[in-house]
Formats: sequence, C-alpha cells, structure tokens
Amino acid sequence: MSIADAGAAERAVAGFRARFGRPPTVLVRAPGRVNLLGGHADYNDGFVLPVAIDRAAWLAATPAAEPRARVVALDLEEEVTFPLDPVPDRRGDWADYPRGVAWALGKWGGHLVGMDAALASGVEIGAGLSSSAAVEVAFAWAWRSLSGLDIGRTELALTCQRAEGEYVGVRCGVMDQMASVWGRAGHALLLDCRTLEVTPVRLPPSVAILVIDTAVRRRLAASEYNRRRHECEEAVRLLSRHLPGIRALRDVSPDEFARLRHHLPPLLRRRARHVVTANSRVLEAVAALSAGDVARVGEAMRRCHESLRDDYKVSSPELDLVTETVWREPGCYGARLTGAGFGGCVVALAAESVVDRLIGVVERAYRDRFGRLPVVIVCRASDGVAEQNSPGVLRSPGAG
Ligand code: GLA
Repeated sequence: MSIADAGAAERAVAGFRARFGRPPTVLVRAPGRVNLLGGHADYNDGFVLPVAIDRAAWLAATPAAEPRARVVALDLEEEVTFPLDPVPDRRGDWADYPRGVAWALGKWGGHLVGMDAALASGVEIGAGLSSSAAVEVAFAWAWRSLSGLDIGRTELALTCQRAEGEYVGVRCGVMDQMASVWGRAGHALLLDCRTLEVTPVRLPPSVAILVIDTAVRRRLAASEYNRRRHECEEAVRLLSRHLPGIRALRDVSPDEFARLRHHLPPLLRRRARHVVTANSRVLEAVAALSAGDVARVGEAMRRCHESLRDDYKVSSPELDLVTETVWREPGCYGARLTGAGFGGCVVALAAESVVDRLIGVVERAYRDRFGRLPVVIVCRASDGVAEQNSPGVLRSPGAG
C-alpha cells in the first residue's frame, strides 16, 4: 500500500471515531486512475487504457437510523448533512458528489439506509487523477454494502457517471468510474466504452508509472470539457449525412475520415481527427503490451499527447514542457497528459532504473521555466473498489 493510501485510511478511521464516538462498520477504498491512452475517447464510445492507482478515496461509514447522510470531509475540515428522501438539489460544493450518488442510486431503484461517514482521500483534487470518480465510487460502494443493494460493478460505475453528468453537471465519460471499480493490481484495463467490456492487460513489472503534477489546477475545465463533447456530437451529426447509421466517432474508421473530413469545418475536423486516431493508438498499444514492447506503447502515448495538444487543444504550456522534457530522456518510454487536460498531471512510463534521474531532470527543467517544482509520484497499478480490513473497523470485508 502506498504511504498516501495508508495515511488516508488511517485518517478516515480515526476521523470517524473522533466525530461519531464509535467505530465505523465498514471502510471502503476506491482508487483514482491515470489513463495511459485513449484521451477523450470514452464519451465517443471508443477504447481507453486506464490504470487504477495506489492513491484512493477512503470512506469509513456506518448506518444511521434516520434517512439522511452526515458526511465529514476530513481533508477539507467540513461537514454536511443532507436528507435522502428526497435528495435536495445540487449546491455547487464538494458534497454534490455524495448527494449526486445518493440521487443516482435512488433513480437506479435503490432504497438507501441513512449513513454517517468520514471521507479522507489520497487522490489530489483537480489534478486529473479522478479524485471525483474515486469519491463517487467510494460512496456508492458504501451504500451498496450498508443497504444491501444488488448492483453489479459496471452498473455501479454507470450510476456514478450518471451522478456526475446529470446531478453535478459534468458530462464525463465512463472511464474514470470503470477504472475505479474494475482496477486490477499490476494491470492496465482495456475498456471498450461501447460494450463496457473490460480486459485487464498485464504491465511489465520493471516499468514504473510516474505521475508528474504540474500543480496547475484546471481552469474552466468543466465548461471546456462539455464543449469538446458537444463538438464531437456535432461532428457525428455532420458525418452521419454521409455515413448513415453512425452513432459516435467510434463508428468512423480512419479511411472514412480521410475521405469525408472536408465535410467538417476546420475546428470540428481537428477534434474528430483526434478521436478517430485515438482508438487505433489504444489497440496498437494493447498489442504492443502483450508482446512486451513498451517502447511502442510509449510512442503511442507521445502521439496521443501531440494530438491532444494540437487537435483537441486541451494541453497547457506546463504539460507540454513536462512531456517534451521526459520524451528526450533515455529510459523514458513515453508520456502524455492524463485526465481531461487543461492543467493537472502528466503520466510517464519509464524503466525503473532511470526513475530517480528522470525526476531530477524534470524538476530542474520545470523550475527553470516556471520558477517552482512539480510534484512527482511513482504509482502502482492497484485493485478496484473494495471494503478493507483495518483495525478498529467492525466488519471484515464480505464477498463483493
Ligand atoms: C475526464 C473524464 C473522463 C475522460 C477524461 C479524458 O477524466 O471524467 O470521462 O473523458 O477526462 O480522457
């Protein structure tokens, strides 16, 4: 377990006891993620290749007699209580995530028990590591356990996505929630965002996953994100005049795109080109990983970043400097921005033997250009959401 994970687990349990004066019934861990490939492909029904990481949201919880949730966010030192029947409208604060999950589970047909809960997270907020999906999945899993809901993993991920899209108001794809739910230690996940089929793909053990946080938080991320999504829908609408029956950019092959792209205005042409090429990069990388060819995976990551930078326009000067710096370093296979972009983190794959040198190089380059240091963490691929054993927690994990 990473130090960040262990710290968050301890904070959740101790914080719960301090606030509620008794031990929690369950302790749930839901991881954040990086996406090695497949940027902005999920809401286009495409393929993505995320990895659940060893940084997670931890939720200590116990059932309450009244139909309401009382949640302490330990990292923010804030507490919120809201009714479950009905769940009130969104407020625009952090508690929209648990409210949204309660709302979406209700829509799914779940009858939720009241809950006292303490939340601590080892996933940096706004860094592109899916801190929000981790929180959603942690709450959904806690309610699933405490209310005895018969909801499968994929359905739970979809319910959390619905919470974020329809309640919180960010029309995200399903990658982050699926990664948090289906993560597998030592593996990336090939996710087909149309069929929702998940295939774990083993990562070579000598390859390190580095996350380099530019420490620049996303500006206008939600509105720009929704705009990208709308642009893709518009491209589908225009292309469907020539390709009847297409539902998403997933349905447009590179050849068809080359033949029909002049039907799109320049901006939509660039956005669509990113998505159409993204799918083949993911499949190429999965084949390369299976053949143990990490260099080819890295090359696909590099092309992905260039495409996100030039066609999709979601990079930033900080993300570009970090990627360009590590691309040049021997032993670094590849790197790209992770998450939605507009700030946040770069994910890099590198030989374990060069990690220390790489960190030094990227820190120097970043400080020289921006006058401050990035935060670099080395991550491991981890398992998806589960109840955890911990001293001071009443219930040991059941099947699930
Ligand atoms: C955010 C969204 C995901 C996905 C990525 C971009 O993380 O929540 O659904 O679209 O951006 O790949």
